[in-house]
Amino acid sequence: MTTGYDVQALRAREYPWEARGDAIHLDHASIGVVPQRSREALAAYNDKRAEMHAMRAEDFFPRLDRARALAAQLIGASPEEIALTTSTSWGINLAAYALPLGPGDLVLGSDGEFPANVYPWMSASKVRGFTYELVPMIGRTVDQAAILQRIATDPRVKGVALSWVSFWTGEKIDLDAIGAACRARGIWFAVDAIQGLGPCVLDLSRTPVDLISFGAQKWLCSPWGAAFAYVRRELIAQMKPPAAGWLSQASAGDFNRFLDYDPAWRSDAQRFEVGSLPIQDFVGMNATLELFLELGTANIERHVATLVERVIAGLATRPDVEIYTPRDPARRAAIVAVRTPDVAADSQRLRAANIVHAVREGAIRLAPHFHNTADDIDRALSLLV
Ligand SMILES: Cc1ncc(COP(=O)(O)O)c(C=O)c1O
Repeated sequence: MTTGYDVQALRAREYPWEARGDAIHLDHASIGVVPQRSREALAAYNDKRAEMHAMRAEDFFPRLDRARALAAQLIGASPEEIALTTSTSWGINLAAYALPLGPGDLVLGSDGEFPANVYPWMSASKVRGFTYELVPMIGRTVDQAAILQRIATDPRVKGVALSWVSFWTGEKIDLDAIGAACRARGIWFAVDAIQGLGPCVLDLSRTPVDLISFGAQKWLCSPWGAAFAYVRRELIAQMKPPAAGWLSQASAGDFNRFLDYDPAWRSDAQRFEVGSLPIQDFVGMNATLELFLELGTANIERHVATLVERVIAGLATRPDVEIYTPRDPARRAAIVAVRTPDVAADSQRLRAANIVHAVREGAIRLAPHFHNTADDIDRALSLLV
């Protein structure tokens, strides 16, 4: 099956250490690997930063403008709907503390969520007086039917907060169905999408979500510190920012009027940005997002799906292996979690062969991406004996 790009040529250019055979990175669900072009962009920017006189006006705010524009393009949004942040957690806290919610309201989450998408809701519910409830899973599966049922029938439900893709099973929830149900009832839908965007296409021009948080350090193969949140345009004015700073105000960026304190918030999602951001990290992210857009997000999605299918097909006939990841291709992303008879020994064998992976919740987690090949997968499978 053609993937729309030449993965060997891409790898030779962007991941020379992998082309040399130094290691195989199958752990994007923990930390992504920064492509060569982003590494170079980051190094060049840091070099300039160390000799400040070399920097020009375009090296400051315009780099961040570019980051908002690229992030928006990647997800089918507009740059005015993007707030740059420094972690996924920041955007989740933004949702928990600033979505219009209060006493008497109920926010639904799910058991099995990564804690980054639980603690902010627990904490904000106490401060703001709403109730936060985790819907039990069915085995290892998010009970989407129960969540849809509650949205339709429980008048207290005013918000739903879920991860797009599970960090430990790789299950991908149906954003369209849950988003449409929320929109029909005027309920807020907040999503942690760090484990989905990159290997999966997201088009917010047709998927109804109110607020999404993305860290770029995993599947967007960018430096730590680069992250962003999408806030639906109509919602921006309804959300009072939980924090204020010189860049959240309408006067932001006017270097001639610092002392004319003006309490008016910015009208776009930048009202949720507070102060100086790690520009170098966004320079790195910009280079990677340009690469993704060049390759085509649908091509990447197709390529990764074949790798994931290869892992599953390679293990499906083994009665001693339990696959935590859904078999339905529509319900999975790029994480495959498998419980082998001896996870510790298998993990050790993978590590000894420099195959980077993770062990989560008792299973080996393989997380291939756009630069991995079928041979990488076969090599990993051959070690899961
Ligand atoms: C679902 C999910 N959300 C959030 C995070 C990390 O959040 P942050 O970017 O704030 O470190 C992870 C990392 O493992 C994750 O799996």
